[in-house]
Formats: sequence, structure tokens, C-alpha cells
Amino acid sequence: MSATKLETLALRKEYPGTVALDSVSVCFEGGKIHALLGKNGAGKSTLVKLLAGAIQPTSGCIHVDGRDVRMRSPNEAFANGIATVYQELSLVPQLTVAENIFLGRTPKRRGSRGLMIDWPQTFADAQKLLAEIQVDLDVRRTVAELGVAQQQLVEIAKAMSFRPSALLLDEPTSALAQHETKNLFALIRRLAANGVAIIYITHRLQELEAIADCITVLRDGKLIGSIDMADANAEGIFTMIFGRVEQKERPASLKAGDEAILQVNNLRRKNALTDISFTLHTGEILGIAGMLGSGRTELLKALFGAEPFDGGEIRVGDTLVRSANPMRMKQLGIAFTPENRKAEGLVQILSTRVNMCLAGLNRIAPRGWLNRRREKKIIDQLAGDLDIRVSNIDFPVSSLSGGNQQKVVIANWLTTEPRIILFDEPTRGIDVQAKQQIFQIMWDLACRGISSIFVSSELEELLEVCHRILIMKSGRIVGQVRPEEISADELFVRCLEK
Ligand SMILES: Nc1ncnc2c1ncn2[C@@H]1O[C@H](COP(=O)(O)OP(=O)(O)OP(=O)(O)O)[C@@H](O)[C@H]1O
Ligand SMILES: [Mg+2]
Repeated sequence: MSATKLETLALRKEYPGTVALDSVSVCFEGGKIHALLGKNGAGKSTLVKLLAGAIQPTSGCIHVDGRDVRMRSPNEAFANGIATVYQELSLVPQLTVAENIFLGRTPKRRGSRGLMIDWPQTFADAQKLLAEIQVDLDVRRTVAELGVAQQQLVEIAKAMSFRPSALLLDEPTSALAQHETKNLFALIRRLAANGVAIIYITHRLQELEAIADCITVLRDGKLIGSIDMADANAEGIFTMIFGRVEQKERPASLKAGDEAILQVNNLRRKNALTDISFTLHTGEILGIAGMLGSGRTELLKALFGAEPFDGGEIRVGDTLVRSANPMRMKQLGIAFTPENRKAEGLVQILSTRVNMCLAGLNRIAPRGWLNRRREKKIIDQLAGDLDIRVSNIDFPVSSLSGGNQQKVVIANWLTTEPRIILFDEPTRGIDVQAKQQIFQIMWDLACRGISSIFVSSELEELLEVCHRILIMKSGRIVGQVRPEEISADELFVRCLEK
């Protein structure tokens, strides 16, 4: 494969009220892994979508190997050798790996009842492709049976089936735990070694050392610069991304109260949770560490009443709950920010304004009447506290950048003025600065006596933020640690061990 050059010249994309990308001229070369960096809303996905033919530029142009190309659809991008894996996975869970790779393009043969899918050929082609890119997966398994890390590999295989000379990856690791990225990185490196130009978006700056050859930084839609990794250092990269910002640290005086706000006794659900018992105190931030599938999300859902439990009890303050449902738990002061913002957290077609107030409607519209003044006050305050960037609060929430959508999910639950907030992976897809803002929110809430339960796959985060961390495995709590007693590596080992 010959090395390709993908170049943008004064590329610009405007939306009503925002310039998402502002005259960006940048060059991506074949054989290299280009990390594309920038805080939430910086314009990274916009640049990728323009290169992928998914949206059209307002002005400027794109050159592939010096040729001016207009790409009016993803198919035209494929024809120019550009393939993309988007921020949100697009696989069909019920279909096999092979079908997903060749979705809409499965080999056909003439049968007794007309044209039908040639299964042996489909599986053989998929097998051959996977062998070529050295991915070890059973092509006959359905995607639903695979873990997220493997699904991500299928997405890349699907993109590679178009034989691209440039591969664009929008946050391929945001849904993966750190140790799950190994195979993905190895694959990306092999593709680059074959001459493919890789454009790789990530918020995990600690990955750069391992994966990037060069970095390109956007801020507020503008190109800040492109540099070789060899010339970069962590502080310099941070400043390019954020400008000058102050790093906040956990307040020294942050101490949990000793009053129990939540008591969980022998909570069980068949095949999911076994004998879960713990106490949460006022103003306490309680972390839950554990591998994927260890029951962390199931536990939060049970506490919120989103999934029933078979036995045991939950005591919120003085109220004993033997059967929970979200309405009841919300009344008792529990809020829940789910991990999957697209499916559970937001109503994509509704505006940012509405999405920020869904959970807290009874406060904003007491007795059913919407109080616009109160609504505006609450929204302005939250948008400021969380630094939510919106060009127009009445546009669909789907027009927000990934990280800003995540912040809307959190804002929505803060409007309910809860006593306890259950955070399930709240920092997924969020830039370092926004992450700090979310931690700051948890600390501020804690200072006001509001408690949090915080699930995260990033163990460093748990150690930075929490008072205490429970370790879950196979639906049980198998240990409890204090952040000052343990390192991230040791905690990781504790999550794995029998
Ligand atoms: N369809 C749209 N309509 C209006 N504004 C949009 C639309 N798509 C993106 N924007 C705006 O363009 C800007 C850049 O968004 P983009 O999605 O490119 O950011 P990003 O760098 O990918 O951020 P993140 O890290 O949060 O994913 C944001 O301010 C966003 O709100
Ligand atoms: Mg994005």
C-alpha cells in the first residue's frame, strides 16, 4: 500500500450560532498514527465527519494525495480510501461478526428462490480479512456475545474491509478499560506499519506515549498546532489543549459525616448480585471498583429501583425499602446518571433545555405549571457550573459534542436536588478539564452533605476522588480499601484476584 497524504486547506464548518471548525489546514500522512486532541467541543468529531463525507464543509477543501476531492457521502469517502469508526459503535448486536463486517454487502449467490446470502463465502471472506489484520475472533459469533473491546475490533475490521488508505478513529478507547486497549493498539500499529494513515481521537493523554507518532491539537474549532511526539512533553500537550488552566485538587478538609444515609443489607438478585451489604454516610463519596461484568452497574440499578431485587433491603435515611422503583427512589432523594448516555441518559431529539430539566420537572414546574424564570435560573447556573458549551439551548441535544452531552446527563439529575447520586462511569468521553469539573461537583456536593456512589473503570479516578472504595467481583463485594492505603496497580490486582 502506498503512503497517502490527507490534507485539509482552510477547512471550515459552521452551524447556526457556532463555528465548529475554523479554517483548519492540517496534513495527515500515511504510515503514521496522528492523535487528534482537544477538549470537549473543540471540533475533533467535526473534522473527522468532514473527512468521512458525513457532513459538508461551509468552505475550504480536502486533498487526497494532492487531488482536490469533494465527498458528498460516506461512500464517496470510501472511494477515496477513507474509512471511519465513529464515537458511538454502530454494530447490529443480533448479527454475526461476519455479517456486521459486510453489512449490506454480504456476498450473494443464486439459489432456488432467487438471490440469497452466500454464507460459506461470507464467513470465508470475513475470516480472511481478520487473518490479514491478525485479529483472532470467531466470525460466526453474534456481536452481542462479545465484550466492548472485541466489538471495537469488529468495527475496525469492518472499516478495513473497504481497504482504506486512511482510517479515522473517533475515541476508540473511551468505552474500554485501560488493560483492554492492548490488542487495539497492536492492531492500529500494524495498520500504520502497512502505510495506512491513522487519525486517532482520544481524551486519555496517558495513551499518547504508547500510540501516537504525532499529535494535532484543536481548540474552539481552531488548529493550535501539530507536533511530533518526540518533541512533545505532557505539560506542553496539556497547555496546547486547554490553554492555561488551574488544576483543582481534592479539598484537604473533605471528610465524610458519620450519619448513615443509605444502608444496604443482604441485597440479592439472581445471577447478578449476592449478599450486598454496606453503609453510605452523609457527604461520603464511595467508589466501586471492579472489572466489566462484576455487577457494578447492576448494583446501581438495583439501588435506583431500575432493576428489581429478589431479597434483602435498602434503607434510605429512616425509610425502609423492600421493593424499589425509580419513582419511589427519586422521591427518597436518589439520583442516577447512567453509563449509556445515548440509550438511557438523554432523549436525543429533544432540546438541551428539556433534557436538563427532565428529572427535576416537579421542582421547575410545581403543580404542573412550568416556571420559565425558575427554569432559566437553574439551567444558567448548571450550565455555568459544569461549563456546558451550547450554541443554542433549544437545539436538539444531539448537536452537542459527546462530552457536553455527558455533562447534560449529570445536570439533569442535579436539578432534582438529591441526597444521594449514583454516578455510573460519568467521565466516559470527557476531557481532562471537564473531568476535574465533575470531580469538583462531587466534592462540592459532599461538602453540603450530599453523598455519591461513583463507579469508574479508571481506578486512578476512584483513588483521586473517593473517601472509600468497595471492590466488586462476580456480583459480590469482596473487599474495601481507602485510597491512601493502595496504589492503582494494587487496586487493579485486587479487582482481578479470586
Ligand atoms: N449538528 C450540529 N449542530 C449544531 N452544532 C453542532 C453540531 N455538531 C457539532 N456542533 C458544535 O460544534 C462544536 C464542535 O463539536 P465536535 O462534536 O466536533 O466536538 P469534539 O471535539 O468532538 O468534542 P467531544 O470531545 O466532546 O466529542 C461544538 O460546539 C458542538 O456543539
Ligand atoms: Mg467528539
